[in-house]
Amino acid sequence: MLRYKQLVSHLVAAQVEGVEESAIRDLLEYPPNPEMGDLSLPCFKLSKALRQSPQAIADGLKETLTHEAFERVDSVSGYLNIFLDKTRFVSEQVDEILMAGAQYGARNLGQGGTVVIDYSSPNIAKPFHIAHLRSTVIGNSLKKIHRFLGFEVVGVNHLGDWGTQFGKLIVGYTRWGNEAKVESDGIDELLRLYVKFHDEAEKDPALEDEARAWFVRIEHGDEEAIRLWKWFVEISLNEFKKMYDLLGVEFESYAGESFYNDKMDPVIQELKSKNLLEEDDGAMLVRLDQFNMSPALMLKKDGSSLYHTRDVAAALYRKNTYHFVKSLYLTDYAQNLHFQQLFKIVDLMGYDWADQMIHVPFGRVSLEGASLSTRKGNVIKLEDLLLQAIDKVREIIESKNPNMPNKEEVARQVGVGAIIFNDLFANRIKDVVFSWEDALNFEGESGPYVQYTHARLCSVLRKANGTESTELPEGALDPSKLLNTEAVEVLRELSRFSERIEQAMVKLEPSIISRYLIDVAQAFNRFYHECPILVDDPAVRASRLALVKSVQITLANGLALIGLAAPEKI
Ligand code: ARG
Repeated sequence: MLRYKQLVSHLVAAQVEGVEESAIRDLLEYPPNPEMGDLSLPCFKLSKALRQSPQAIADGLKETLTHEAFERVDSVSGYLNIFLDKTRFVSEQVDEILMAGAQYGARNLGQGGTVVIDYSSPNIAKPFHIAHLRSTVIGNSLKKIHRFLGFEVVGVNHLGDWGTQFGKLIVGYTRWGNEAKVESDGIDELLRLYVKFHDEAEKDPALEDEARAWFVRIEHGDEEAIRLWKWFVEISLNEFKKMYDLLGVEFESYAGESFYNDKMDPVIQELKSKNLLEEDDGAMLVRLDQFNMSPALMLKKDGSSLYHTRDVAAALYRKNTYHFVKSLYLTDYAQNLHFQQLFKIVDLMGYDWADQMIHVPFGRVSLEGASLSTRKGNVIKLEDLLLQAIDKVREIIESKNPNMPNKEEVARQVGVGAIIFNDLFANRIKDVVFSWEDALNFEGESGPYVQYTHARLCSVLRKANGTESTELPEGALDPSKLLNTEAVEVLRELSRFSERIEQAMVKLEPSIISRYLIDVAQAFNRFYHECPILVDDPAVRASRLALVKSVQITLANGLALIGLAAPEKI
């Protein structure tokens, strides 16, 4: 539809003086129902510039706006409603999709500008839980969306691999742990030691001092302290990477908090020289009262750094290294204040690019009532969740399609897809209640539903070819065979893909794509219900197959943008 929006705005701009083409394009709307046309221009905002009533403007344009792409143009209460010539629309739309293929929907809006996306970023020695899953899948999708729109993207996993908690872990390990147990039980054992430390420290506060002393040793590069720390990092990373493999997620950089160890001193110096640092009982902080925020602590009494210190260093490093046009941070909304403070500090340091940093917060996930991110014990591990999903899908496949060749692979793609989609379906800021029933419902608004629709399209194409190929078989498209309401509705949906991707990018909202995919799948399933595809009439058959192929391409491209596989058979 973008093409038609351009055409209409071009033609209208030529008729009305003093109004930019782009302004008109932004005004164009999709009418709520087809009786009101395919595109509509509300003339209210033009009224002032043209010194005419909206009705008069629409009436005037109705007379002058002619083009062979339009079937007719109506003026209704200040709206100019444009009805496209359906035959032309159908044929151009199908051609566009078939020609573009895997690139359908892609554009070069970014023009090579770099976007840094800080996502996933789990904490070493702690389980990878559901909040990190949200960060991972939303970040991964934003990455794909930006890439598809012509940006360079650098995905950074800002691992929580630095901080006093490592001192606590060393105390826990040296007092109550042993090497064999950590090697065999990995993060579970590290978590046990960490929890044990807290329980014991309640009784014996001296342990806290011991832990602080260990962290200072880490920060000063003490050999034994560093050896243990590195080992904890390695054990944890191995487990995280298993998750990333399952999810199909990759990072360009694993520069975690520790990476900034030698980059914080200059930041502290800079803050000092810019008079931003204030001493408070031996600690150093940046006051933000003026901006209605609590102060941000930069150095503790013992001289050790904090989460904030490392984030300021990381922000400067990323700007200097990647020259980003946008730098995104994905965490749950509990960190809203942290990022507001961070951006304000960078701003106060005098960097005019502070407004290129954006916190992208998201809501919490709970599993049918129970919270998933509590500190003590009842953390649901993501790995268990994914493996359960895969098991459940495997069972469904076993009962429906037991002879399918690559069952294991498909069970993984659909099981993992169900979890990802479920996470991406709601507006990101909403809290999500995870339910197995919704996530795995092959007929509901779910990942499996979209994937299954895609597989069904592939199956029709294979049948038409009489082979395993899902290419479009030879045969000329006759647009007059695709003029029924259901077919036009499908193509109307498909024609909005590129704009939906742009909206998802602007709003940093992958759910726009997920919802769009449901809309496309539903529109197609209505068509499929009404219109048999493999009929005898060669023109009808070829045209409906072209529609099938167009939908298949759009669904596959859209699924890729939210990080889901598009298996050809389920
Ligand atoms: N490790 C943090 C957490 O789990 C998230 C880090 C987000 N990124 C950042 N640059 N602060 O809460």
